[in-house]
Amino acid sequence: MSKVFVLNGVNLGTLGTRRPEIYGTMTLDDIERLIKDEFPALDLVFRQTDSEGEMVGFTREAAGSDGLIINAGAWTHYSYALHDALEVLDVPTVEVHLSNVHTREEWRRVSVISPVVDALIAGMGAHGYVAAVRYVLEGRPDSP
Ligand code: DQA
Repeated sequence: MSKVFVLNGVNLGTLGTRRPEIYGTMTLDDIERLIKDEFPALDLVFRQTDSEGEMVGFTREAAGSDGLIINAGAWTHYSYALHDALEVLDVPTVEVHLSNVHTREEWRRVSVISPVVDALIAGMGAHGYVAAVRYVLEGRPDSP
C-alpha cells in the first residue's frame, strides 16, 4: 500500500469560510474526503498545522514514504526553514495552491520552496490535491 503525506500549513484550517471567493467553500475535511474517495487504497497521512516547526517535523516524517504534497500557505513565500527541510527529502514532492497565486498580489508570485519540489500546481482548487496525489503515485504520463 502506498503511503502519501498531504500537509497543509498556516491558516488552511479555516478553509470553507476563509475568503471563499478565492479558496472555494470546501473545508480541509472535504478535501481529505475527496482524496480518500479517489484513492481508497491509499495510506493517506493528511495534516494541518499553524506551527512552522511542527510542519518541518511533518516533512521529516515523510522520509521513506511514497510522496509528499504540501500547501504551505503563506510560508510558501518566505520560509527558508521549509525550503531546507524539503531540500533534503528524497521522495516525490508537489507544491499545491488552491488559488492561482500568479494572478494575485506580487508577493504571492514568489515561492521559496518551488526550487526544491518536483512539481507545482496552482489554481485548480481542491482538484489540485487529487492531481498531485496521482503524480506522486504514477509519475508523469509522458515519462519513460
Ligand atoms: C495558498 C496561497 C497562499 O498565498 C496563501 O497564503 C494561502 C493559501 C493557496 O492555497 O492558494 O494561505 O497557498
